Amino acid sequence: SVLIIDFGSQVTQLIARRVRETGVFCEIVPFQKAEEGFERLKPKGVIFSGGPDSVTREGSPRAPQAVFDSGVPILAICYGQQTLALQLGGEVEGGHAAEFGRADVEILKPSPLFEGIWDVGQKYPVWMSHGDRVTHAPEGFEVIGTSPHAPFAICVNEEKRYYTTMFHPEVVHTPDGGKLLSNFVHKIVGLKSDWSMAAYRAEMVQKIRDQVGDKRVICALSGGVDSSVAALLIHEAVGDQLTCILVDHGLMRKNEAAEVVAMFREHYNLHLIHVDAVDRFVGELEGVADPETKRKIIGRLFIETFEDEAKKLGGADFLGQGTLYPDVIESVSFSGGPSVTIKSHHNVGGLPERMNMQLVEPLRELFKDEVRVLGKELGLPDSFIGRHPFPGPGLAIRCPGGVTREKLDILREADAIYLDEIRKNGLYDVIWQAFAVLLPVQTVGVMGDGRTYEFVCALRAVTSVDGMTADFYQFDMNFLGKAATRIINEVRGINRVVYDVTSKPPGTIEWE
Ligand code: XMP
Repeated sequence: SVLIIDFGSQVTQLIARRVRETGVFCEIVPFQKAEEGFERLKPKGVIFSGGPDSVTREGSPRAPQAVFDSGVPILAICYGQQTLALQLGGEVEGGHAAEFGRADVEILKPSPLFEGIWDVGQKYPVWMSHGDRVTHAPEGFEVIGTSPHAPFAICVNEEKRYYTTMFHPEVVHTPDGGKLLSNFVHKIVGLKSDWSMAAYRAEMVQKIRDQVGDKRVICALSGGVDSSVAALLIHEAVGDQLTCILVDHGLMRKNEAAEVVAMFREHYNLHLIHVDAVDRFVGELEGVADPETKRKIIGRLFIETFEDEAKKLGGADFLGQGTLYPDVIESVSFSGGPSVTIKSHHNVGGLPERMNMQLVEPLRELFKDEVRVLGKELGLPDSFIGRHPFPGPGLAIRCPGGVTREKLDILREADAIYLDEIRKNGLYDVIWQAFAVLLPVQTVGVMGDGRTYEFVCALRAVTSVDGMTADFYQFDMNFLGKAATRIINEVRGINRVVYDVTSKPPGTIEWE
């Protein structure tokens, strides 16, 4: 395997993604725990990530000496390049503000790193970070790629198999970056592609069996991809020792709960309890306008409802969860202070301790798109796997102002029509997430010969890679016109439709 030492770059996870795409397993460890991780994993190759610090600052992060002593090949990116250079006796000049930009690297010499990809004498686009820079390479190193502003763009010691770049091969703005990483893990480190979802599935099923034995597992099923894939994997491992609980809070999309229940019961023969908790949720939410209060109420009721059901079952020793790798990576934080809560995310945290259960988390090592591949492997239909993300608190946070049963019904209908139009026009998979929001504002309209005074519906659609940033989707106006007409004609209670053209940042994807 490959070990990635994280020096705090925003894009460290992408390195892992790219390496795994080449069929090789890898793990990320924060630099503080790099030595321990190196001992534990005994990797065949190591990658140093970029990072926001300056190597010229006293006390700035370093790579463990053990990595250099072991003789494994190293790929060092950006900050990684600088610390490697410094630790091996080179020189680094500080004082430049860190910024990113496109650059063209000219290749001076052949190397296994770009064998079959880049030719000597040619220039290739890369995404460079300009910050501190190497001014003197350590002994044994030579520059084999350069650009006007980055004389040490690619600096290597072929004998030791140390490869360092000032640019970021892991980002999409370095078009050949994935291939460079593939060369590193295959040609230089010498690893084979043996990381596949079929292998992962078999391995996890065995691990779950070993962990659970003949005990009972319960799992909250939301209908989202993560919880569904986790449940199916656990079901494959322990069959009827698993019971899934779907807490139906009445805040899901149209027909969603029914479809999920039908699929899991009929197609997978999974033991699923469908809890109708609509009155409990909508009752408490009635009239609540503050977004954080809504989120807290929903989070609490979810846990209480789940707990009640679990008690009826006589409890369980294990709680299955669809926790993903990005949630468990210990992130390297340089800020030192607590980060600001933008939104309280809804999860079942706290339950395992409260109910004295151990966790079964078969997706802990996977990224979101790997979970989709695994879902496919487990036979989930594409239409299910490719569904847009949906927030735990559901439609409640798409009803700004007080939530009422009537508003939820209006919103659910409008949302279904909007998504139907998006699907019919072949746009569903191009858009990352699309949904309707029901505004607590009434406006005057005219329908037939009569005056109307009804709600405004806002439509939102964004493109995004991970939900962290997003751009509003640029629909054709004819599309929007058609969707608006259908919503106004078919949904009673809405007489005006507007489109949200805010990107994230400064907006968030959801309105609350
Ligand atoms: P924001 O609105 O923060 O949303 O830009 C980013 C992504 O997260 C989803 N989201 C949630 N997902 N529980 C979830 O499981 C939540 O409480 C929650 N709030 C927002 C949102 O739909 C978008 O995909």
